[in-house]
Amino acid sequence: MMDTTPKVVAITGGSSGIGLATAKLLAKSGAKLVIGARRADKIEAAAEDMRAEGADVIACTLDVADRASVSAFVTSAEDQFGQLDALVNNAGIAPISDLDHLNVAEWDAMIDVNLRGPLYGIAAALPIFRQQKRGHFVNVVSTAGLVLAPKMAVYAATKNALRTIGEGLRLESGPDLRVTNVSPGFVQTDFASSITDQAMRGAIEKRMGEIGLSPDAIAQAIAFAINQPSDVEVGDIVIRSAAQS
Ligand SMILES: NC(=O)c1ccc[n+]([C@@H]2O[C@H](COP(=O)([O-])OP(=O)(O)OC[C@H]3O[C@@H](n4cnc5c(N)ncnc54)[C@H](OP(=O)(O)O)[C@@H]3O)[C@@H](O)[C@H]2O)c1
Repeated sequence: MMDTTPKVVAITGGSSGIGLATAKLLAKSGAKLVIGARRADKIEAAAEDMRAEGADVIACTLDVADRASVSAFVTSAEDQFGQLDALVNNAGIAPISDLDHLNVAEWDAMIDVNLRGPLYGIAAALPIFRQQKRGHFVNVVSTAGLVLAPKMAVYAATKNALRTIGEGLRLESGPDLRVTNVSPGFVQTDFASSITDQAMRGAIEKRMGEIGLSPDAIAQAIAFAINQPSDVEVGDIVIRSAAQS
């Protein structure tokens, strides 16, 4: 039995791709949403589209690499809606390249966004969840951490670190909280836009076009985990095209 009680869900990176598809799907089932991303015009436009369909959505300018920004984002959900049922740590970047290129600034950016960002999300939401005696962390990880490929080392490392933190959080969280790690394979989104190596970007976009899933498929998996009864914790979901090795 799915839990159909309307939820309050905060989604980082909610202006595009997996985050936007998840927001739209959850809104259809009556969830109240707080979505955040760096580009104010995009996140506001996404929220406006959903409001036009009757959804209750707040848009926030958010940089997950900044702890104060994440804290304000998470707090706004509680302030506006009086509760927070789930935080989807979805925002992520993947400026992948050969280690030989020494793109150290891009390594730092991946660590800041993909790893520090979700940690700041945990730091902001955990006290709220503890006080409510209920709450759900959903971390968007990646199959890149499960099957390694060249040029993916730093990106995959950030995702595997997040996977480990999610499992550690699950072990410590007790019966009131839930933790889900969702690992998508190739998904057709703007995800390759942060790749500065143009040949690499072209190759990833080509592969996405050939075998990438719709972001709606990942949204369905996230909604499945969130809408389970409160005592049912879906731990890990790996979801990829049947054509992906
Ligand atoms: N697409 C894939 O093939 C794939 C596969 C496995 C895992 N994933 C993971 O899925 C997640 C979502 O990516 P996507 O594929 O949906 O890509 P996307 O379409 O590029 O969406 C990324 C979202 O994150 C936001 N974002 C980026 N940096 C941010 C920051 N510092 N603070 C706040 N928001 C930020 C972006 O908006 P702004 O740029 O305006 O901030 C955008 O809303 C990522 O964690 C990614 O690693 C994707």
